[in-house]
Amino acid sequence: MAGDSLTAPQQISTLESSDFLADVIAGLSSSPRTLPCKYFYDERGAMLFQKICELPEYYITRTEIDILDRNRTEIASQLGPNVELIGLGTGAGTKTRILVEALMDPAVYIPVDISEKQLRESTALFQKIFPDLEILPVCADYLQPVVLPTPNHKPARNVVYFPGSTIGNFEPNEAMEFLRRIANVCRENGGLLIGVDLKKDQDVIEAAYNDRAGITAQFNLNLLAHMNREVGADFDLDQWRHRAIYNSSAGRIEMYLISEVDQFVYLDEHKFHFRRGEKITTEYSYKYAPEGFAALAGKAGFEFVRMWTDNARLFGVFYFMVTT
Ligand code: AVJ
Repeated sequence: MAGDSLTAPQQISTLESSDFLADVIAGLSSSPRTLPCKYFYDERGAMLFQKICELPEYYITRTEIDILDRNRTEIASQLGPNVELIGLGTGAGTKTRILVEALMDPAVYIPVDISEKQLRESTALFQKIFPDLEILPVCADYLQPVVLPTPNHKPARNVVYFPGSTIGNFEPNEAMEFLRRIANVCRENGGLLIGVDLKKDQDVIEAAYNDRAGITAQFNLNLLAHMNREVGADFDLDQWRHRAIYNSSAGRIEMYLISEVDQFVYLDEHKFHFRRGEKITTEYSYKYAPEGFAALAGKAGFEFVRMWTDNARLFGVFYFMVTT
């Protein structure tokens, strides 16, 4: 029997290096030059991201965890009993654990993550802490069509959990399309619990992406090392530097790698020339006003139910239900 699909029923996708190579060539050939931010997360990248989450300047993770922690009873009763929880990009599972602990008799947990190591480790941990929970891990890039497994337990409803403000990596119209795909996965009374970074003082945002310890810089530069290893590029990491600026008119952080010298990079049959000061865009991270995000989800087929936030309104955990 076929499971629910994030789009059309196809096989579970895994990352292939041919996609990686094609993506890199396309990104470096375009103007302005870009690289997809999903390639940050090789093993070292995932480790560096975990370090970012613990930085004093990076308020995002800490604040989201705090919001979940303080409101877990309310969140759990909003979601109701016997849910099937589908986690997208749940990583080590720190936030999901708080949520699952609070849920009333959760039926099924389906974590979908690109990092195989984290998926394996978090599944083993969850199986131990929640022995009655049916866990069906899927190692996949959820940006691609993914067929979700069909559980043995029959849940009361399904809820997609998309933490971490990863939705901020999409351009707003792509975000809407992605939410529409999620809405299609939701069955009757299904919902979406999603963490979204909110608009705030520019200095607070910029500090979060330009930490003093330089971990975000290492995280950004690691993308070059990942490309050298996986697709055979010859980037010299010493000839690039990290930069992150907040574009207030677009409402997003823009991360760049900037060439420190005039240089060539060889890759496959290609030779890329970079002028000194030339940038490669590696990530956008959009920030939303609560009403703006609710409106976006509304266009995707979701009805706003409520938002939990912190005192400083840095971050929002939104709950939506599919419109019937
Ligand atoms: C995982 C996409 C939410 O945008 O804040 C952290 C990634 N990049 N520091 C973010 C990231 C640089 C992060 N997201």
